[in-house]
Parts: sequence; structure tokens; C-alpha cells
Amino acid sequence: MPLNMKNKKIAWITGAGKINGLGYQTGLALLKKGYHVVFSSRKTDGIAKLSKQDLASFPDHDFIDLDVTSDTSVAAAARKCQEKFGHLDVLINNAGLYQIEDNEKSGDSLLTARATDLMKIFDINTLGSFRMTQAFMPLLQKSDAPRIVNISSGMGGLTEMEGGYPGYRLSKTAVNALTKVTDAEVGGKKLKVNSVCPGWVRTEMGGPGADRSLEEGIAGIVWAATLDEKGPSGGFFRDGERLDW
Ligand SMILES: NC(=O)c1ccc[n+]([C@@H]2O[C@H](COP(=O)([O-])OP(=O)(O)OC[C@H]3O[C@@H](n4cnc5c(N)ncnc54)[C@H](OP(=O)(O)O)[C@@H]3O)[C@@H](O)[C@H]2O)c1
Repeated sequence: MPLNMKNKKIAWITGAGKINGLGYQTGLALLKKGYHVVFSSRKTDGIAKLSKQDLASFPDHDFIDLDVTSDTSVAAAARKCQEKFGHLDVLINNAGLYQIEDNEKSGDSLLTARATDLMKIFDINTLGSFRMTQAFMPLLQKSDAPRIVNISSGMGGLTEMEGGYPGYRLSKTAVNALTKVTDAEVGGKKLKVNSVCPGWVRTEMGGPGADRSLEEGIAGIVWAATLDEKGPSGGFFRDGERLDW
């Protein structure tokens, strides 16, 4: 089995293509904690250039193009992970879409949203996480302490459910269901899988009016990615605190 020469834990993050996005910033935080980080996104050449200075002192990283809506792309990524590392320790399903860009207004309400747009949002947020979980599971099961973090949102919580943005809300409720199903099938003492809401964060998606900094947003993601053996599995968390589903 190919091994990481330095025996570092390997973390793979999807949707890590924006310097001010939660994916890239979580990866940077994990690099600082001694992990080897794979930053993946549809096109990583831009982030690879922009992050050169940030990552100069952290050589243990890779950029890999990956579209979570493509079975072929996900399968190719899992093959690369197998060839390079032989296993995976942490999978962070972060890639996400809030609204279909050219059709934002209609997506604001249940009364105008289009089913085809909902399907596109589901394909990234929910099925993207499903595809990654399934394809990378054999690699995760080779780790001594596998962790999966499904990035969700309070907007997908049934208890706090409000109106508006049905595509995003429904897709994140389904992400939470994916967490429960994964936990029921393979979670437990060894593998921990949890949903994490980062709060409302100032990224491109959250916008400049959001009430949280990137640092505040990633703290709960890093927590879930680095849980020790006593940590929870099959839960929904923000800042390490349990949320109602
Ligand atoms: N920001 C918030 O307030 C907030 C709140 C709750 C939950 N979240 C969740 O946190 C996660 C990260 O959000 P963010 O705020 O950092 O958003 P962001 O800045 O818009 O970043 C989203 C990332 O997802 C990637 N992506 C989109 N479609 C993809 C695909 N098909 N394959 C691979 N990557 C794809 C984008 O890649 P490209 O660069 O290729 O477009 C981008 O890097 C999302 O799951 C989001 O729903 C965010």
C-alpha cells in the first residue's frame, strides 16, 4: 500500500476553490495542524496560484480537479487518492451551491422555484456528498480513525425550518439524512460522520453582511474533522454544540 512518507493524516476537501471560501480555509487550518491536505474543486489552477504564498511553508498539499456532480470525476479522484496515499483519514464534503445564478429570483420562493433548478442544487449539495462518501468509503475504511464532515446548514434543520430558498433548504435537510444513513451503516467507534453548520459566514455565498468571520465559520468544521475516538458520530453541530435536526 502506498504510504504518505511522513505518515501524516490525509484530509480531502471538496469545493476548496475559493481563497475566501470555507473549504480552502479549513484546508489551511488542517495543514497548520499537521495534516496533508488535498484541495479539490472543479478547476484548481486559480486557487493553486492564489494560495502560493499561504502554502509556501506547507508543502504537504495537492490540488486536484474534481466535479462532485460527475460520477466519472469522483471515481477518478478516488483512484488518485488510492494511488497516492492508499487510504483517506478525513473527507470534508464542502462543495455547495445556494442558488442557480441566472435564475436567482425564482429560487427565492417555493411559489416560483423551478424543479429543474432544485435538481441542480441537489446534484451538488446532496448527491455530490453521497457520491464522494460512497466512492471514498473503501479508502476511509483503511484509516485507523476515519472522519467524514458533511457541511450542512441551519437552513436545512427541520426544527428551525422557515420559508424561502427551497432548493438549498431541501438539499441540506437531505445532507443531514445522508449523515444519519452513513452513521447507521458504517459509523461508530472507528468511523465518525457528522453534519456541521458553519453559521452565516462572510464568503462569496454568505455575502459581506454575514455575521461570522471565516475563522469563526471553520472552527466547528475543524473540530468535527479532528474528533478523537470519544467524539460523537451521527450528529448535527455548530461550534461543536449539538443542533436539533
Ligand atoms: N457561507 C455561509 O454562510 C454558509 C452557511 C451555511 C452553510 N454553508 C455551506 O458551506 C459550504 C461552503 O460554502 P462557502 O460559503 O465557502 O461557499 P462558496 O464560497 O460559494 O464556495 C463553494 C465552493 O463549492 C464549489 N463547488 C460548487 N459546485 C461544485 C461542483 N460541482 N464540484 C466541486 N465543487 C463545486 C465552488 O467551486 P468553484 O470555485 O468551482 O465555483 C466553491 O469552491 C457549502 O456547502 C455551503 O452550503 C455556508
